[in-house]
Amino acid sequence: MNIEEIKKDFPILQNKEITYLDSGATTQKPIQVIKAIEEYYEKYNANPHRGAYSLSIEATEAYENTRKKIAKFINAKQPEEIIFSKNATESLNLTAYSYGIENLKKDDEIVISIMEHHSNLVPWQKVCKQTGAKLNYMYINNEFEITEEEIESKITDKTKIVSITHVSNVLGTINNIEKIIKYAHKRGAIVIVDASQSIPHIKIDVEKLRL
Ligand SMILES: Cc1ncc(COP(=O)(O)O)c(C=O)c1O
Repeated sequence: MNIEEIKKDFPILQNKEITYLDSGATTQKPIQVIKAIEEYYEKYNANPHRGAYSLSIEATEAYENTRKKIAKFINAKQPEEIIFSKNATESLNLTAYSYGIENLKKDDEIVISIMEHHSNLVPWQKVCKQTGAKLNYMYINNEFEITEEEIESKITDKTKIVSITHVSNVLGTINNIEKIIKYAHKRGAIVIVDASQSIPHIKIDVEKLRL
């Protein structure tokens, strides 16, 4: 499919006055997404999982079918592995304030990279302040990449959490998350991947990645 055919799916891009260059921050929505949201509010909107009436049951089915589709899309074993949140910022904060606060103690270490979006930086700074853990940064070389040496020198036996962006929204760098995950798991750390910029473009298989 060429770009002109893809563009036809986006009502806002039918306005010839607009050349939209800010998809890295907010993507425009195709007609299929706009219609699905409209249809939900017109036909199904009700409290999912909490009502015994037909509208609530239909809303529950719509939610759960979406969970199944997303599980299949990223090859998660169970739909229950999919947890909906408002956005990446909420997911990262939730993980930091639940798992992070609960499991970190003084002198433990968290590793992130220097290219993180603020939403994958500020929650970890706060967790460190509260727990006494230390925040370490993986730096980049002249090609804007995190080298194997950098990964191996920053992730140590003290590292309990590695939280890393898959693709940088600023640099476009695609991080070698396979290598980072493998190395972190060997050291006993858990890994959080911010896939905000990669999931629409790169096939993600959470089973293969062992996330
Ligand atoms: C790499 C990355 N992480 C996190 C975010 C924050 O995303 P959200 O608006 O879904 O909270 C963005 C937003 O552009 C991003 O590019």
